[in-house]
Amino acid sequence: MPTKESRSADFNKLFNDSFERIMARGSEAFYQRFYEHFIAASPEVAKAFANTDMERQYDMLSLSLMQIMSFASDRRSNPYIEKIANIHARLSISSDLFGMWGRCLIATVREMDDHYDAHVELAWRVTIAPGLEFMRAYCELAE
Ligand code: HEM
Repeated sequence: MPTKESRSADFNKLFNDSFERIMARGSEAFYQRFYEHFIAASPEVAKAFANTDMERQYDMLSLSLMQIMSFASDRRSNPYIEKIANIHARLSISSDLFGMWGRCLIATVREMDDHYDAHVELAWRVTIAPGLEFMRAYCELAE
């Protein structure tokens, strides 16, 4: 568990270092593993991706992860994240699947970052939280 050091932890650095270690092992492996987790997590997710070109989806996730990182630091919406949020709002995704999306991403980080520990997990969780919440809330409010 995180201890008193987390009071002064630099989560930007922890996140960036973890992301670099993972990407150094091959970005496609990371995105592929993420979707294996996500699709296995719920029949609703499996159904939603049944006809998806997954190679394209890996590239899309890579792009959107960059946007999530920048949203975490500046909280600025832009046409790209508005477009992605809109696409998801039209898909009528249940709100709890966004939490699952985050848990599957963390499970993938745990597997693929060989320096993974509780602080690294905290860093990922606080970094993805604003973007994930933007998507979840946008979809809820569009209902
Ligand atoms: C913050 C969380 C998420 C991010 C960043 C994200 C990102 C993306 C992106 C970038 C696309 C591609 C859009 C395009 O075609 O231009 C996409 C498509 C899609 N996403 Fe998500 N997504 C998230 C959460 C979810 C959740 C929770 C579900 C639940 C099932 C989901 C299901 C889908 C589906 C079904 C597609 C369309 C796939 C297709 O084209 O066949 N996404 N997502």
